Amino acid sequence: MKNEQFPKLSNRSSALGTENAFVVLAEVTALQRAGSDIISFCIGQPDFPTPINIQDAAVKAIREGKHGYTPSNGIPELREAIAREVNRLRGLTGTSSVSADDVVVGSGAKPFIAYAILSTTDFGVGDEVIYPNPGFPIYESQIVVNGAVPVPLGLKEARNFAFDPAELEAAITPRTKMLILNTPHNPTGGSLSAQDLADIAAIMRKHPQIWIYADEIYSRLIYSSAFQSIAALPDMLGRTIISDGASKTWAMTGWRIGYAVNKTLAPTFTRWVTNTESCASHISQWAAVEALNGPQDAAEMMKASFLKRRDLIVGLLNQVPGISCLTPGGAFYAWPNVTEACRMTGCADSEVFRKKLLTEAGVAVLADIHFGARVAGEGQHIRFSYAASEKAINDGVGRIADWVKKNTK
Ligand SMILES: Cc1ncc(COP(=O)(O)O)c(C=O)c1O
Repeated sequence: MKNEQFPKLSNRSSALGTENAFVVLAEVTALQRAGSDIISFCIGQPDFPTPINIQDAAVKAIREGKHGYTPSNGIPELREAIAREVNRLRGLTGTSSVSADDVVVGSGAKPFIAYAILSTTDFGVGDEVIYPNPGFPIYESQIVVNGAVPVPLGLKEARNFAFDPAELEAAITPRTKMLILNTPHNPTGGSLSAQDLADIAAIMRKHPQIWIYADEIYSRLIYSSAFQSIAALPDMLGRTIISDGASKTWAMTGWRIGYAVNKTLAPTFTRWVTNTESCASHISQWAAVEALNGPQDAAEMMKASFLKRRDLIVGLLNQVPGISCLTPGGAFYAWPNVTEACRMTGCADSEVFRKKLLTEAGVAVLADIHFGARVAGEGQHIRFSYAASEKAINDGVGRIADWVKKNTK
């Protein structure tokens, strides 16, 4: 076996990025297996079981023989429920609303990031996609691997982690094909204000060739204001791909149900699904029908619990010397600024700080560089997913405070 030669892999696959949450998770698991006591804030998923009525709907679907392929765009019952929910939550009415025919269901919201890039850009011809930085790492990975040009747009702490519209305008070229928006946002927890959205829409009206990918997977986890979508602003619906799903709202990350909504692109997305997954899990689709149409008290309870934990973690983080944390408007992430804590403890940057927290304080978090290159002038940040118990939050931030105090030089 020693001299065995293997065929080469494509250059394309060596350009594939990853989600570092999974890499850090592997580190955490290895440390835990070696006996370390680690409190983890790495993984972006609700820490609740899927509500029982949704579980029951899946069991019923299995017993009723819902075992086969479905149409690639999803079962009509689910697409109708999604169209109703998308219109309700985003205030879309009359001719500016969506219908079941505009909806395509997939195995999570994630595949639609790739399908949207594949459907709006061509490989290697210089087509550009603008996306938020820091941002969900799959945006950049899929832009690059599909041969488009990544154009990161820096988010600003002073703007509550929105980007500066003037910088968006400056980033647009005749080759710009798509703008990715994500509100509420991973990793900062920030959400775009009505003014931000109005400014973005005004710029987009000047550039009708640009598609908008509205990643709204955290649309139901917004705390201080009502959710607002770019799709609801004048002239925006037709060019906006609304993406959302069941993962975060109903604690269904492993069921793999997400969707994209756009009248023009729905047939193309359907064809991508036929070419890749065939269809989302038939059983999970019936579970998602219950998630959308059934009682919402479990979803409301989970949201209320995230809000309580947000206030807890933000309050605690702001008491740690050298750490300051804005109050995030949505999702379940906190993105504290640790520039001063790094300086005080002699850590060169947030990644060194993160590693020390893991190995010396027993607390696992992600660093800003796991979400894209650091934005000049924005300092150092780390990410907490606060979908963790109140005890874990109290103990975890307590360990960080002790470590910073002990290691201040
Ligand atoms: C911003 C963002 N978009 C999309 C997804 C993918 O969600 P899904 O589980 O529906 O594929 C995630 C999951 O972490 C996310 O944070």
